[in-house]
Amino acid sequence: MNYLLSPSLLSADFTQLGRDIELCKKNGVKYLHVDVMDGVFVPNISIGIPVVKSIRKITPLVLDVHLMITEPERYIEAFSEAGSDIINIHYEACSDCAAALKKIRALGKKSAVTIKPKTDYNSILPLMELADMALVMSVEPGFGGQSFIESTLKNIEGLAEYRQKSGLGYDIEVDGGVYIDNVRRPLDAGANIIVAGSAVFGSADPAETIREFNAVLGEYEKRGN
Ligand code: DX5
Ligand code: ZN
Repeated sequence: MNYLLSPSLLSADFTQLGRDIELCKKNGVKYLHVDVMDGVFVPNISIGIPVVKSIRKITPLVLDVHLMITEPERYIEAFSEAGSDIINIHYEACSDCAAALKKIRALGKKSAVTIKPKTDYNSILPLMELADMALVMSVEPGFGGQSFIESTLKNIEGLAEYRQKSGLGYDIEVDGGVYIDNVRRPLDAGANIIVAGSAVFGSADPAETIREFNAVLGEYEKRGN
């Protein structure tokens, strides 16, 4: 199992995206988390297709695109063409999640299904054979800088248990309120991809923070749990 950090660009400096992405790459980051919001599924608007396209041009890093949009089915092709590598759709937002996940895979991309904090992990178990990753929200989607909701650990635990039982090899990503001092909570529950926005770009020394996260992740990878 790979243990990876996926810094969320939502907290980066949008006038200096190239610089912030380069800093990530220089410090061993492999994934970049890109938050797309439509102001309908979540009460905020962030960035969209043209920005993903621009990011794609300047970096070989894996673009982990989190679609917080209503009926994401409508935009799967567009985000795929823009250069996304992983396309995360919300369970609560699509009318036919299975079809959406199949479509993502048919386009040669990694598929991921995302659940909000109050959604029970059991609702997505039937979808997991179509998904390369489950994204567990540990804050209400829409904004960076919120506090980690402890009750979401049970979603991670349930998905980790099912991963073992089913023999499926999906990743489990956690998103929201994760910092160096609480990152072991989701890791111990079974997550292996860590999204961190404020923790990285809001820190006094983002490069050092990335190295600290990678040290913890390396520990878990070595342990193989
Ligand atoms: C929230 C986004 C997150 C956000 C996390 O809706 O999905 O990816 O950037 O930010 P932090 O790490 O600041 O909680
Ligand atoms: Zn996100």
